Order: sequence, then C-alpha cells, then structure tokens
Amino acid sequence: MTGRTRREVLADPTVRAGEAPSTEDADEAGGVGDRGHRAVDPVAAVADDLDEAGLRPRRLAEFVGQPELVEHLEIVLEAARGRHQPVDHLLFAGPPGLGKTSLSGIVAAEMGVGLRVTSGPVLVRAGDLAALLTDLQEGDVLFIDEIHRLHRAVEEVLYPAMEDAKLDIVIGKGPTARSIRLDLPRFTLVGATTRTGLVAGPLRDRFGFVGRLDLYGPEELQAIVLRSAKILGVRIDAEGARRIAERSRGTPRIANRLLRRVRDFAEVRGDGVVTAAVASEGLGVFGVDELGLDKLDRSILEALCLRFSGQPVGLTTLAQCVGEEPDTVEDAYEPYLLQQGLIQRTPRGRVATARAWAHVGATAPPGIPTAGGPAANLF
Ligand SMILES: Nc1ncnc2c1ncn2[C@@H]1O[C@H](COP(=O)(O)OP(=O)(O)OP(=O)(O)O)[C@@H](O)[C@H]1O
Ligand SMILES: [Mg+2]
Repeated sequence: MTGRTRREVLADPTVRAGEAPSTEDADEAGGVGDRGHRAVDPVAAVADDLDEAGLRPRRLAEFVGQPELVEHLEIVLEAARGRHQPVDHLLFAGPPGLGKTSLSGIVAAEMGVGLRVTSGPVLVRAGDLAALLTDLQEGDVLFIDEIHRLHRAVEEVLYPAMEDAKLDIVIGKGPTARSIRLDLPRFTLVGATTRTGLVAGPLRDRFGFVGRLDLYGPEELQAIVLRSAKILGVRIDAEGARRIAERSRGTPRIANRLLRRVRDFAEVRGDGVVTAAVASEGLGVFGVDELGLDKLDRSILEALCLRFSGQPVGLTTLAQCVGEEPDTVEDAYEPYLLQQGLIQRTPRGRVATARAWAHVGATAPPGIPTAGGPAANLF
C-alpha cells in the first residue's frame, strides 16, 4: 500500500455527497497496489467511483434484494417520519460493494434531509469531527464510512453527540482548562463497516438499528444488471444478464463492472447486443471463469491442489506462492473461495476441497473434504 488509501483520498471530511473526486486525487488513488485492475475486485477502483454515481439506487424502492433489511428500514423510516423526528442512528455492516454507501444516501433521500459524507480514517483529530457536527442542519444524515477505523479521540466526541446531541469542547490547557458543552442539531449518524467485530462495543451499542448486508443471489444480481444496463443504455437480454450475475461473486459492484466490460466487448467484437453467448465470451476474454474466479483465484487453487498435493498450506506460504501479500489473499480472495466451498481453513492451514480439485481439472486424492467452511461470518 502506498501513501493514502483510495478511501482516504476520496473521503475528505468536507466532501458533500455525490461530488466526484478531482482528477488529481484520482491519479493519486490509482496508485494503490494492483488490485484496482482486477475485474472481480469487490473494493471500488477510482473508475468505479465515477461510474457508480449514476448507478446507485436513490430510493428504497429501487434498491434490489436484501428484503429483510429493506423491510426493517421501511418501518424505522416510516415511524420516524410519523413522529417528525430524525431517524435513530443506523449501522450497516457487510462486505465491500454490497450497498452500504447507497443505503446512506437512500436514508437521507427518503427522509428529505441533507447528507454529509466522511470516513473513519480521515477524521484524524477530535476537531475534525467537531467541525462537521457543528455544520449539520437539523435532521441531516452524517455518513461515516469505515467507522471501525475511527481514532479513539474522535470516537469519544461521537458518544455525547449521538446520545444527547451535545458537543463537549475543552478550552485552554493545564489547570485553567475548562470544558463547555454545546448543543448540536439533532442528526442521524449512519455508520458503515466491513468488520462489525472491530466496531468498539460502546459505539455499537449507541446505534438504534444494525443492518447486516449479505451477498446477493443470482436472481437479485440479474435484476441489478438489467437495471444498470437500462441506465447505461446497454442492449442486453435476460440470459446475458444472468451470465454476468452468475459470475459476480454475489456483489453488485462486481456485477456493474463486469457489465461495463461485456458492453465494451459486445461493441468492439459484436453488434453491441449482450446475449448469453456474448457475455460468456466477453467474460472469458477478461479472464473471469464460470464461477467468477480470475487468474489469481485459480492460481491459489492450483497451488493448493497441484503444487502442495492437497496438503494444508499456511497463509504466508500460499501468498508467496501466488505473488501476493498475505493480507490481500485473506481479505480479497479467500472470502469468496470459502463461500463457494472451494477451500477450507483448518488449524494447520488452507486446504482445497473436492470442488476445487474438480475446478482445476484434477483428480482429488482420497480424504479430501467435500464442502467448504461456513459461508456466513466472513467479516
Ligand atoms: N441493492 C442494490 N441495488 C442496485 N444496485 C446496487 C445495490 N447495492 C449496490 N448496488 C450497486 O453497487 C455499487 C456499490 O454499492 P455501494 O458503494 O453502496 O457499496 P458499499 O457497500 O458502500 O461498498 P464499500 O464497502 O466498498 O464502501 C453501487 O454503485 C450500486 O450501483
Ligand atoms: Mg461504501
């Protein structure tokens, strides 16, 4: 990782929702590792940020899937509207690219209030958050992305703000220092995290509602692809959308990115219409196979099956073998391989399952596990 991460660049504490990052920032953010070049990376690349703005669902009715979460939100929002009060503080948790940021915008739009966007790591000092809080209008939504990365001192400013709409500031230093309490407008904090486990207990307890997003099913992703195609003016049939959906690793952001690549392929190599055959061929050209795996996923499976002959392999060794950082393998590649039941984590290391052996086209030795580890609790 070099310098600031993409999120740190994009999430300037004062950025208003919907504002695109400047080209200068985009260039800088583009230098973050190679991961932005992966067609199936769940984390947004800069190009996605620019394209996603138009594809984000704006209202709850446009938000596809997550039926339980949507139903709960409908109730919470409706009740707050009925009472003419701001909505309770909300926390959205789930893997990257599933719609947490989109939901924060939806909450603001459904309530007819303003939205301020920031992110945990960019709020360095308590004063950064204080400045944002004092600038809010009554009822506004303050969205803090990656809230599990808030600094301790900043988190402490947040507690009285969330609980009593008060801001405690210390004036002066040493024995003459005194603390004064300011009234803040009542607001709704919407937090997003990819790691619920890392949100401090006292912070988690101050949210009135925690919504967990799960990976999407193929029908839902197909609906998302069709919706995005309509917005982008891509001609696609239901089967073409289905092919893209099946290879999108349960993630709308990946579905939208694959749609754009397949659209390019259809325009250059075909007549611009995305059918099942065009989608399969296009995805093949971009190195995405029928399970949504790319070259690096496949080399992980090949290493486990062929190089280490099915023996358990430690994370560091595995990462070295495929030329990646252990953290990247763990965060960006393994969750989907685990979810698909292609690998298992055991105390002695990673093991390929029978499904992985079949996928790399080799015969599994006896005693290989047939199913993957638990699909849930990936973050
Ligand atoms: N339920 C949905 N219906 C339609 N489109 C969706 C849905 N969820 C996500 N998307 C699409 O996926 C893109 C990524 O979603 P979003 O940025 O909200 O994800 P996120 O959970 O905030 O990701 P991250 O953790 O990386 O910040 C959006 O631009 C939107 O087009
Ligand atoms: Mg987001």
